[in-house]
Amino acid sequence: MNVLTVCLGNICRSPLAEGILAAKAKDANLKWYVDSAGTSGWHDGEKADRRSREIAKERGLDIEYQRSRKFIAEDFEKFDLILVMDSSNYQNVIKLARSDGDIDKVKILLNYSFPGQNRAVPDPYFEGEFSYVYDLIDAACDKVLEIENIDKF
Ligand code: 4NP
Repeated sequence: MNVLTVCLGNICRSPLAEGILAAKAKDANLKWYVDSAGTSGWHDGEKADRRSREIAKERGLDIEYQRSRKFIAEDFEKFDLILVMDSSNYQNVIKLARSDGDIDKVKILLNYSFPGQNRAVPDPYFEGEFSYVYDLIDAACDKVLEIENIDKF
């Protein structure tokens, strides 16, 4: 299964989600390909925010290899599941959808841990709550593995 995590800048939240989900899938011996992107393209080519890289390192996760890129319509072809961090990401992603099938692939990440609540992973870029954000994403990714790994792919 191919999974794409998406936020606004692709430097704070979605890089953490990519790294966390890829590590959990690997630990579970699943052949998942995990990538991330941002709806803005503002930080194209940049590494993840230093604070995301630091909290990842503290938790034993290496995300130094990641580079920011913009979400594009072709991502709907490559990915089976697109996990967005908030409802604004959701709107921006589905603007590029070409079919109902594309739209069905897009899910708000925290709906896995808080079903039906459309809760956002808060943007830590200005507030700096990286540890809290890491924990929220980590718990939701456990649920993603549980729910999406019911031998669908
Ligand atoms: P992210 O956070 O969407 O979690 O990567 C942000 C990163 C950069 C900006 C906003 C949010 N920015 O305004 O540049």
